[in-house]
Amino acid sequence: MPDIAAYLAVHRSRHRSELADFLRIPSISAKSEHREDMERAATWLVDRMLEAGLQKAETMPTGGHPAVVGEWRGAPDAPTLLIYGHYDVQPPEPLDEWVSPPFEPTERDGKLYARGSVDDKGQLYLHLKAVEAYLAEYGALPVNVVFLIEGEEEIGSDHLEGLLVENRELLACDAVLISDTTMFAPGLPSITTGLRGLAYMEVTVRGPRTDLHSGSYGGAVVNPANALARIIAGLHDENGRVTIPGFYDDVRALSDVERASLGRLPFTEEGLREEVGASELGGEAGFGALERIWARPTLDVNGLLSGYTGEGAKTVLPARAMAKISMRLVPDQDFRVIQRAFAEHVRSLAPKGVTVEVSALHGGQPWAAEPNAPIFAAAERALARAFGREPVYIREGGSIPIVQAFQTTFDAPVVLIGFGLPGENAHAPNEWLSLENFEKGTYAIALLYEELATSSSPEAP
Ligand code: BES
Ligand code: MN
Ligand code: MN
Repeated sequence: MPDIAAYLAVHRSRHRSELADFLRIPSISAKSEHREDMERAATWLVDRMLEAGLQKAETMPTGGHPAVVGEWRGAPDAPTLLIYGHYDVQPPEPLDEWVSPPFEPTERDGKLYARGSVDDKGQLYLHLKAVEAYLAEYGALPVNVVFLIEGEEEIGSDHLEGLLVENRELLACDAVLISDTTMFAPGLPSITTGLRGLAYMEVTVRGPRTDLHSGSYGGAVVNPANALARIIAGLHDENGRVTIPGFYDDVRALSDVERASLGRLPFTEEGLREEVGASELGGEAGFGALERIWARPTLDVNGLLSGYTGEGAKTVLPARAMAKISMRLVPDQDFRVIQRAFAEHVRSLAPKGVTVEVSALHGGQPWAAEPNAPIFAAAERALARAFGREPVYIREGGSIPIVQAFQTTFDAPVVLIGFGLPGENAHAPNEWLSLENFEKGTYAIALLYEELATSSSPEAP
């Protein structure tokens, strides 16, 4: 009898040490000095894909960092699953806050610490290990699989949509499966049915030709820092609502079913307040914290730069001020519409005497699942078997820019099953992956294949 659990136990330490090898490669997509590491990570994945039993695997140029595509197509009459993930990671700074170095994976307390451990190398790698285990135990998969692993998710996936469209045939699929999200709580398996989109902007305000003595000129010249502060303050009203005209026009309200299921989750606002360590929570009036994070759009300053910020005082009137501002978007907002509306509104808020330049840095569409496809029921059964608990349906406040494009390009359901945990420090110092989740996640994905073998119809999983 095939026994996936036994296979995973026997191969546990090899799987962990392979993942550690992967994590040692500093595949930081944002920094050009790591271009060779990006190539190295992509090639490393190709080799592991072939070892795991995929029939073909290769890197594909994108115009940016390479993508990796691998496939197993030994089930000609069965549906095809596309498995997506990203091998790029965020920069590790600030380095001095890491307890062990970011690219020297270290296990402490059942947690594997390294940049990219949970986001997303560990989560994508478990899919490869699930395929390996299933092929080893059963000799064949019940579905065809195509892996698409990209190297630009953390910088906005700018080149991936082109690759999707150009390789529509090669990548054609009946469902998309992604692990790049978190479980709602430890031990509570979760299926994510919504992601926010993103419109990330940079605003530069310029005034006098150069910095000025704030005594000799202050009072007679419009200060760009004051002007920028005023603009930013004008972007919200007293109820925490964004003032950009039309901003909420396309926001889809949560359905009654979604709001009810959100209310049943094990969550308290006091717990969230404690987790973030603030004296009070805040946000748009009229909504609870979970709805604010999952289903309402936001506007937040991510960075501010102007004037003198060194030690002590310097009396200076800065010539320039800059802000990085991101808006998280929800279905059915369109980031292009919002970017334009933002630029127009910011210009209208600028006082006379300064010039304002607005540019867009990232764009990503929001996404909501169509959770009626049979693969969702199969995923529920697989997760319940692996974790011993019925999964919950949740949303995420974060973004995975390409997800909406999968749904529209392939007209296929997208299933997000995350194995991260709250507090795992993604994008922050001391990122970690729960090794228990790595193993249970691998098991759950292999069980999903089993469930698909018994339940799927030829046309649609
Ligand atoms: N894996 C995350 C998405 C995510 C965030 C899932 C939070 C669950 C919770 C992804 O790698 C990510 O960080 N996305 C960026 C997108 C951006 C850089 C274009 C994000 O959300 O900021
Ligand atoms: Mn990710
Ligand atoms: Mn990320």
